This record gives sequence, structure tokens and C-alpha cells, in this order.
Amino acid sequence: MTHLPHPTRRSVLLGGLGALGVTTLGACARSTAADSGIASSFPGPSSLSPTAGQRVVSRTLTARRRTVDLGGPKVSTWTYGNSVPGPVLRANVGDVLRVTLDNRLPEDTTIHWHGIALRQAADGVPGLTQNPVAPGEKFVYEFAVPDPGTYFFHPHVGVQLDRGLYAPLIIDDPREPGDYDAEWIIVLDDWVDGTGRTPDDVLEELIAAGGSGGSGGMGGMDHGSGDMGGMDHGSGDMGGMSMGASPWGDAGDVTYPYFLVNGRVATAPETFRAKAGQRVRLRIINAASDTIFTVALGGHRLRITHTDGFPVKPAEVDAFYIGMGERYDAIVTLEDGVFPLVARPFGKTSGGQAVALVRTASGRAPSAGVNPSELSGQVLIGSDLQPAESARLADRDADAQVDLALQGSMQPYQWGINGAPFGQNEALHVGEGQRLRIKAVNQTMMTHPLHVHGHTFALPSGLRKDTLLMAPMESFALEVEADNPGNWAVHCHNAYHGEAGMMIALNYS
Ligand code: C2O
Ligand code: CU
Repeated sequence: MTHLPHPTRRSVLLGGLGALGVTTLGACARSTAADSGIASSFPGPSSLSPTAGQRVVSRTLTARRRTVDLGGPKVSTWTYGNSVPGPVLRANVGDVLRVTLDNRLPEDTTIHWHGIALRQAADGVPGLTQNPVAPGEKFVYEFAVPDPGTYFFHPHVGVQLDRGLYAPLIIDDPREPGDYDAEWIIVLDDWVDGTGRTPDDVLEELIAAGGSGGSGGMGGMDHGSGDMGGMDHGSGDMGGMSMGASPWGDAGDVTYPYFLVNGRVATAPETFRAKAGQRVRLRIINAASDTIFTVALGGHRLRITHTDGFPVKPAEVDAFYIGMGERYDAIVTLEDGVFPLVARPFGKTSGGQAVALVRTASGRAPSAGVNPSELSGQVLIGSDLQPAESARLADRDADAQVDLALQGSMQPYQWGINGAPFGQNEALHVGEGQRLRIKAVNQTMMTHPLHVHGHTFALPSGLRKDTLLMAPMESFALEVEADNPGNWAVHCHNAYHGEAGMMIALNYS
């Protein structure tokens, strides 16, 4: 049994970066920083030479402090450009993106291009793929985009994701028929920044509420059932909200005052307009840090066509769950009237819900607390989808296998993978060209969205995902085609869990 060194506040707050100082931690740490895959110098993404006919899409993103109006509440936060979400970044499959990050924040930052199978030098993970970008510095991300679909980008430093630093990244396939009249991008978020607390305060509260804990072993299950010290408790029917069955157990750690669609609170929702009978493609992105949502459009069923960028066998559902970092695309044929698009936080009783309106006729808008019956209808769990044939990995046996155990607890507030937090756990290894099977198991009593960088893995059904909700004690065999050499992060997409250490490196040898 591995003993976990008592995490100092510094090591927890710095997460992966703190690992550079890991040798100053407890003597019983199992691995050295080198074993965990962390380095301190990087060549930087030398420029790509676009091939003939390859289009280069150039942008500058300024990360800055900004006061933003969420539709009533005005918050001082950090943004890309002037808005929350930041500006949509869009390119065609095969293009080269050349994005200059101009860091005008008071802290180091990076950008991670979530879900893109990009060259690792542009992946944005400090300690694994680059040095952090210091305040006042610039960094150029240059990479080709090999797969069409719905993606997003965000920082990979601390809990900056829980500020306003996120924006959609849409990769179009010019050859895709696009059998719809309009396309709406819907970005979900849980919001606390600038409401008297920052995400850094929240992390501090979580650690304090977790107490100093016992012996510090990271045993998974036996440590996963702690009381949550006044934090939100996600156990089923609460506060008169019908949660239906409770597939996700304790779903979240943090109490948020607001939930947003496209940067707007439910009392001042964004309104999408179209004509009745039109077909609309919805691209739904969960940019929240600690919230799984149930999403439904009142008066409509949704035809789910893609998840995490890749096509699925279309599935008609009343509603679906979306974990942090997941994306779903749906087609809907619009009825006549005014309809609420609702994203209800799973297992949270305060802060209301996230709402947008769909309007094809005049009429009164539903209230912020609207409760469309679809939410308690047939709710899709994304991993039950079947892949489109075109999304399947080639038929092939795995020739390497690794274990990946999600572990930790609220009390003490410690999260890790394979016996220790990132920086102290041992990197997973794979050889280029191998078919790797990752035997993932969630040994905790919470749900975690497991995210793999640089690759889109296949579930046993063949479904392709890069972010997978894993319920308490659930396990999955994930197959990865090891065709993108580099050092890659694999982590929980709960920003607080990831920062507390629920991350591991996957390194090509
Ligand atoms: Cu969107 Cu490493 O994450
Ligand atoms: Cu987690």
C-alpha cells in the first residue's frame, strides 16, 4: 500500500506544477518527479510548415481581467477577449490553427485544445508539453486539426477553467452534408468567480472542509464515503426537484450561485430564433468545473448525432446527461412557440439551473425555474450510445494494457490516480503503433469525467469518446490507438479534482 505524503497547501494548489517541487514533500512519496513524466524544459512548438493547399487560420487570444455582465450579476473575472464564453474559434478539418496567446493575466496560464488529436507541443499542459506562459508573455500554438466536430479550449493551470476562460472550437468538414437550417452553440457553465469568491478560494474551502484527514492512504473506496462538510450533496431527490434515478452518486463538491448558458443567467437567457419546422443542429459543450447537467429542450425530443466530435448512431431521447468536458451534438425539428432549453445541475439544490430560450413564435417566455417534462423522461447516459460505423477504430486486438484507478475522497480532500496524486504517481507508458487498453476503474463514491488528451478512445461498444463519465465503482476498458507520440495528460475533468492531483501522464516510450 502506497503512502501518500501529507499534501501541503502549496503542493495541492500548484497541482502538476507543484510537482516540480515534489522532492520537498514527504519522504514516503513513491516516485520521483521524473517517473511521473514531468519535465521542466521544452522545445516549444516550432512552427508547422503548412503543406500546399493547407489553410492557416490565425488568431490572437488575449487572456485578461474583465468585468462581465452575466445578465444581471456583474462579475470581475478572467476572459479570452471581452466575453464569456470567449470568441468561437472555427476552422475546417485539415487546417492549421496558429493561435497566439497573449497573457495579460496576473498569473501563469496556458491553453489546452480539448479533444483535438493535435501535436503534443501545442497541447498546453505545463510540465508535460510546455512551460507555463508567464504574465506579459506570449505563446504561439500551432497545430493541424485532423477531425471535424465540437470541441472547446481552456487553460490547463490551476482552477482557471472555473473562471471565464473558455470558448468553443468548431471544426467543420466541408464534405459533411449538414442537413440542417441553422446551428446553435450552447456552452454550459457553473459560475462562482467574482461573486465574493474566486475558484482559488473554493479550492481552499474544499481543502479546509476536508480536514487534515487520517493516515493519508489513497485507498479509494474506504476513503470515498466521507461526509461533505456542508458542501452540496448529490444524493438523489432533494429540495423538491425530481432527480429521477441517481446514476452519478455524489455528483459535485461545490455550491454555485449561478448556472449559465452562453454566459447568461436563467433570468436573462439568450434567445435563439428560428422558424417552426426548421431543423437545427445544437452543439452543446459542458465547460463547467464541477457540474454534470441534464439537458432537455421543452416540447421536443432530441436526435443525438455526435459526442466528443465523433458521429454516433442517431438516438432519439427526451434528455441527456453531460459531464464536464463532454460535448453532444443534436438535431431538433422546431415546433411552433417559445421553448426552454434547460440544463439542470445534477444533484445540486441551490443556484437554480441554466436556461436558454428557443423562439419560433411570439408568446410569453417560460420562467427561470421552468421544469420541462422531458427532464424526467428518458435521459440518455452517453456511454450507452452506439458508434457510427465511420467512427469505429480498426478491428484489432490490444497489444498493451495498463490499469488506471481513480481514487480519493472529500475528507481529506485528496484525489489521485494509481495510488498517488499527479507528480507522485508513475506515468503510464505505451509504444507508438500499439493498441493500448486502459482498464479504468472508479474506486470512489463520486462520479468523475475521465479525459484523455491527444486521442479519442473507444469503449467496448466502439463508441468514440475523449471524456467519459464514470459512476462510483464503475469500470470501463478504453482502447486507444497509439498513433500520436508525446506525453499526454489523462485526468478527471472536475477542475478541483484535477488540480488536487487526479491526473496521470501517458507517455510514449
Ligand atoms: Cu479539458 Cu486536460 O482538459
Ligand atoms: Cu473527479
